[in-house]
Amino acid sequence: MSLRHPTPETAADAGAVAGFSAAEVAAMDAALAAARQGPRGANPLVGAVVIKADGTRIATGHHRGAGTAHAEADAIDQAQAAGLDLSGATMVVTLEPCNHCGRTGPCAEAIIGAGITDVVYAIDDPHDPAAGGAETLRAAGVRVRSGLGAEAALELNRRWLDAVAATRPFVTLHIAQTLDSRIAASDGTSQWISCPESLADNHALRGRIDAILVGTQTVLVDNPRLTARGADGEPAARQPLRVVMGYRGIPDGAAINGDDGKVLHLPTRNPREALDGLFAAGVRHLMVEGGSRILSAFLAAGLVDELIVYLAPTLLGSGTPALEDLGITTLAEAQQWEWDPASGGAVQQLGRDLRLHLRPALTAGASTTSAETTSATTSATTSQTASAQIASAAAGAPAPVPAATKTSADSTPLRTGADTAAGGN
Ligand SMILES: NC(=O)c1ccc[n+]([C@@H]2O[C@H](COP(=O)([O-])OP(=O)(O)OC[C@H]3O[C@@H](n4cnc5c(N)ncnc54)[C@H](OP(=O)(O)O)[C@@H]3O)[C@@H](O)[C@H]2O)c1
Repeated sequence: MSLRHPTPETAADAGAVAGFSAAEVAAMDAALAAARQGPRGANPLVGAVVIKADGTRIATGHHRGAGTAHAEADAIDQAQAAGLDLSGATMVVTLEPCNHCGRTGPCAEAIIGAGITDVVYAIDDPHDPAAGGAETLRAAGVRVRSGLGAEAALELNRRWLDAVAATRPFVTLHIAQTLDSRIAASDGTSQWISCPESLADNHALRGRIDAILVGTQTVLVDNPRLTARGADGEPAARQPLRVVMGYRGIPDGAAINGDDGKVLHLPTRNPREALDGLFAAGVRHLMVEGGSRILSAFLAAGLVDELIVYLAPTLLGSGTPALEDLGITTLAEAQQWEWDPASGGAVQQLGRDLRLHLRPALTAGASTTSAETTSATTSATTSQTASAQIASAAAGAPAPVPAATKTSADSTPLRTGADTAAGGN
């Protein structure tokens, strides 16, 4: 399903094409389109296209998530696997090639090693350990230019850039709900609101994130395991850190404790404090899974970057609502969200459910939320969040320089061996 996006999606839409060839502009558009195929999360969405001197496209790559090849390496690998010679070619990429030796090796070195002599990229990498690739390339004699498609690239990853600037994890919020926005029936039953296809999708996501968080009440009521499991029920190779947030203690026999030690209890009700603790523990992508008080707390604080709603064609008419009071009393204060066409699309049908994919809408002159704006403006690494930069540009303010991005106490007893409706917890 295709939904119109209100902000620049192409290099040409975003201007700044002077000094670049038509082939480079077209390649940047293809790189942006490739980038959108990746999953949102700990890493930005990045795409790369290699073109020959005559403008012919040789290879297109994109990043498929943390721990996988970067877009540039993906494109180079594809070209080399096809026996193509990349010497004298141009690499067009949506983010500055990285300079660090992470799990996939530095892209700047891979580009130099492949004999590529020209690099065009959209925006600088704001991430300290990765930044500096352009300098490495120039030092090796590669011609490097930047700024093509910068606004579109900034827009594509604005919430990721905001999270980096605020030194907190990227936050995905998950809701498995009925058509009338209930996440559990009035007797507490919630397994399963979602269909098996939605549950499988949720478990695939669990296998990619760094941590999954629920409130103490969900642990006490549902006794979830919160592990990532395959359709056969077997644990996935990669497991998220399991996190409980709230003052009350968790019983020793709670399923969430597991036997691998990958569990953390955060005795706080403050979402930002929880994110700070998780960031310090190395978490870069957090999924908040519920229940309604926790979902509402993160939403009210403006600390949600991506929203995934599994909508079941089911009516309950009563029961636990997906959300609680967000502190909004008039329509003018409503939170606005937009359909996110990236990472699998805005709307997908999964079995009998719909999977809705959204992100906070851009509001003129500010980031989506006051909490985020406050933390970002006090950040030492940036003077303005990516969202705020794009919003002010959209409102007619002077376009920012892309490089600025471097810029009721419940005590319900445990229900043994149960899972929550949130997707096989
Ligand atoms: N369908 C789904 O997607 C889904 C997913 C998960 C859960 N659920 C359902 O959700 C229901 C539980 O939801 P819930 O709202 O009652 O509980 P909850 O959100 O899971 O947990 C609420 C508890 O978390 C603690 N807490 C931490 N930070 C808080 C904050 N900022 N504001 C308020 N409380 C905070 C409080 O406990 P302390 O007193 O310990 O501080 C509070 O009682 C269950 O029926 C479960 O099945 C559904």
